[in-house]
Amino acid sequence: MEGRGLRKTYGDRVVLDDVSLTVHAGDVVCLIGSSGSGKSTLLRCLDLLEDVDDGVIEMEGREITDPRVDPRDVRRDIGMVFQAYNLFPHLSVLANCTLAPRKVHGMSARDAERRATDLLHRFGLGDHVHKHPDRLSGGQQQRVALVRALCTEPKLLLLDEITAALDPELVGEVLDIVRGLAGTGTTMVIATHEMGFAREVASRVCFLDGGRIVEHGPPAQVLVEPREERTREFLRRVLPG
Ligand SMILES: Nc1ncnc2c1ncn2[C@@H]1O[C@H](COP(=O)(O)OP(=O)(O)O)[C@@H](O)[C@H]1O
Ligand SMILES: [Mg+2]
Repeated sequence: MEGRGLRKTYGDRVVLDDVSLTVHAGDVVCLIGSSGSGKSTLLRCLDLLEDVDDGVIEMEGREITDPRVDPRDVRRDIGMVFQAYNLFPHLSVLANCTLAPRKVHGMSARDAERRATDLLHRFGLGDHVHKHPDRLSGGQQQRVALVRALCTEPKLLLLDEITAALDPELVGEVLDIVRGLAGTGTTMVIATHEMGFAREVASRVCFLDGGRIVEHGPPAQVLVEPREERTREFLRRVLPG
């Protein structure tokens, strides 16, 4: 996926300002930056949940910001997980995970259940397949949300601060899954406040400030030896010590 010159405004407020971003297959791009810097807006634009005011987004060489493109077609290939788990409360874990594969991707109930059950076991949720979300911990619910996103075999996974609402002791089990996905070549764009995690899994880190990408590069540059004063200042604020 590639975004070029993306601009997004709300009223007279510029929220994304000339943002360009290339995500190759297998890349893990981490978006960092203060609250309000535009990370969620960028992810929502990439998923076509928001229209950009200017700029172009291409996916596999096709311009998906072309008004003739149906956003639902594009979203079929993209999985997105948010800070709040957003599971359907009235459906079992399994039903949460098979809904989109069946309704959106036309998979048979049997195939959808086989794939979901396999992923739920792989991610340590095998005992919870038939439970409702409210019986699970926040960490377990967020792991289900990840499995649900993976059940549609997305080409790109967008993760928006998926551990931000979790109790600290539950963060690790969710990050472990994302780490595993990074290790198996899943293409991801991840907005995160977890700097240690970003340093470990990111192939590239983008630091956003006021809707602009101020600095981007490998984590060893951006997080360890940043070139920009604004990046240094941000890291001083968020890193312990
Ligand atoms: N729907 C909206 N209407 C108006 N302003 C918005 C809307 N969504 C986000 N914003 C503003 O856009 C800016 C960037 O927000 P956001 O992308 O959520 O940042 P981040 O995810 O980095 O915290 C903020 O100033 C926010 O208030
Ligand atoms: Mg956000």
